[in-house]
Amino acid sequence: MKALRCSVHGALDGLTVDELPDPTAGPGEVVVDVHAAAVNFSDILIVGGTYQVAAPVPFTPGSEFAGRVVETGPDVEGIAPGDAVSGSTFVGAFAQRVVVPATSVTALPPGIDLRSAAAFGVAYATAYHSLTLAAELREGETLVVLGAAGGVGLAAVELGRLFGARVIAVASSEAKRELCLAKGAEVALPYDDLKRRLADAGGADVVIDLVGGEHAEPSLRAMRWGGRFVTVGFATGEIPRIPLNLVMLKGVTVRGFEIGGWGRRDPEALRRGGAELARLLQAGELKPHIHAVYPLEQATAALAAVADRTSTGKVLIEPGDG
Ligand SMILES: NC(=O)c1ccc[n+]([C@@H]2O[C@H](COP(=O)([O-])OP(=O)(O)OC[C@H]3O[C@@H](n4cnc5c(N)ncnc54)[C@H](OP(=O)(O)O)[C@@H]3O)[C@@H](O)[C@H]2O)c1
Repeated sequence: MKALRCSVHGALDGLTVDELPDPTAGPGEVVVDVHAAAVNFSDILIVGGTYQVAAPVPFTPGSEFAGRVVETGPDVEGIAPGDAVSGSTFVGAFAQRVVVPATSVTALPPGIDLRSAAAFGVAYATAYHSLTLAAELREGETLVVLGAAGGVGLAAVELGRLFGARVIAVASSEAKRELCLAKGAEVALPYDDLKRRLADAGGADVVIDLVGGEHAEPSLRAMRWGGRFVTVGFATGEIPRIPLNLVMLKGVTVRGFEIGGWGRRDPEALRRGGAELARLLQAGELKPHIHAVYPLEQATAALAAVADRTSTGKVLIEPGDG
């Protein structure tokens, strides 16, 4: 099979497409023929060697995929060859086949295409649980999303609207802001002079911060009394420092959301959320935005589109049959 390979941590242009032996399924594992794999921001950090957990080289990047099961190992129940599934892994998905524990894949509901399935999982699960478990967003509240045109951001805009919130999207370009408005944001703002712009727009009950850096503090300053500021990611690469007097004066709650850690501590909540998300996707109430689909040979360009901020929503890689 063909796979994208990272032989040395660093720049994306060091990645190569190589021929590897087909994987086989051990006990409790399944092999999936990857139809589409989604690029996540963390893939770029893992390739660069700057993620919180290191992947020893050489490795195949890629953490989210959808496709068909081609082999099941001993002790696998409830999943059979031919089943359409989506799944996640730390690395390995930017390849024609991936081997993962059977517990890491979910059978797709009928009617869900494999591209949408690949684009859906991490972004919507992160947005949904940030909004429900961490922010406890309520109908009629004002939700501000920083980095709103990215994968998690657009999902948060769409879900916020679905939950009955008034959504203010913050994004860097006119085209990105237009997309946020089309996805249900009532207001879309650039980052400059953010505190004043947010105050003029009525302030925030909830902030979902996907970018960090210099944008966190102005949005915290624009919060209403009793607001919830949820830190989810640092796409700017900078971890902000928050003056705690701002938190004290307005009775603001600052919370973090990280899907892996929350999922280990409260797997039942994430299972319930996942089931609800699958229902909403199947009902057509959620539609992941796919910016572009690249063949495996152009996987570096797919990763670069996310790294250089030109993409919106999700970027996919389709390994094809070779
Ligand atoms: N906590 C969790 O469980 C969890 C789960 C998934 C993702 N995340 C994190 O959440 C963040 C967003 O993830 P995502 O999948 O939505 O990523 P994405 O699709 O790449 O979107 C990131 C957005 O951040 C903005 N941005 C601002 N400064 C940037 C910079 N220097 N480089 C790149 N983008 C920049 C960009 O929008 P503008 O151009 O409009 O600024 C971009 O649309 C990432 O930090 C990711 O690691 C966390």
